Amino acid sequence: MLARAAQYDKPRLTLRAHRLKRGASMAQTFAAEKPEHRDAIERVLGRAFGPGRYAKTSERVREQGAIFEPMLTRVAINDKGTVIGVCRIWRVEAGPQQIYFLGPLAVDPSEQSAGLGLALVREAVAGCRANGGSGIVAVGAERFFHPLGFSVVPAGRITLPGPVDPARLLWLELRPGGLDKVQGELRPPKR
Ligand SMILES: CC(C)(COP(=O)(O)OP(=O)(O)OC[C@H]1O[C@@H](n2cnc3c(N)ncnc32)[C@H](O)[C@@H]1OP(=O)(O)O)[C@@H](O)C(=O)NCCC(=O)NCCS
Repeated sequence: MLARAAQYDKPRLTLRAHRLKRGASMAQTFAAEKPEHRDAIERVLGRAFGPGRYAKTSERVREQGAIFEPMLTRVAINDKGTVIGVCRIWRVEAGPQQIYFLGPLAVDPSEQSAGLGLALVREAVAGCRANGGSGIVAVGAERFFHPLGFSVVPAGRITLPGPVDPARLLWLELRPGGLDKVQGELRPPKR
């Protein structure tokens, strides 16, 4: 299973001929996040989210001690070597169950609406599943995440360290029964 995650050490080429909009890149690779991507990722996040980025409750989950998983994070790099999107993955705990927390997810505004956001999440989900994960929690638009199998978390199952619109609190089971024991606040994992 770890071997599958390790293959992202070597970027993987994906053609994006379908739904290509004017000005968008012809092709991109998906790679695990490396330290040298950090500045470019910050630029993409700044351009995609604007200044409100750090006010989000998701950011509280991350800063309270979620464990960053660079090998499961996916960075999209265009044919010129520029980072154009990112989907970060973190490890958290809810009750007795370790799960993954997805975000931030962002595609550079110049590359949006061409299928890259969905492709990034699909790649990240595949990595989490291959790594033996139980489930993934995300905060976002159900309309966007639904095609990848995410659904709204049933009322009362998960809380975050701050306000969140319950209609935007989503999860995805990665193996049968993987979410059964998930209950309570998303916290830093104990191990
Ligand atoms: C959200 C985001 C990552 C989507 O990336 P993208 O490459 O533009 O998305 P895609 O082209 O893969 O879109 C796939 C589908 O999702 C829909 N979609 C895109 N963004 C959406 C949103 N914010 N809400 C609802 N649906 C959305 C698209 O309309 C498209 O549907 P269609 O196939 O019916 O046309 C990107 O718009 C972005 O970076 N936004 C700013 C940051 C942000 O809001 N991040 C998400 C936080 S979870």
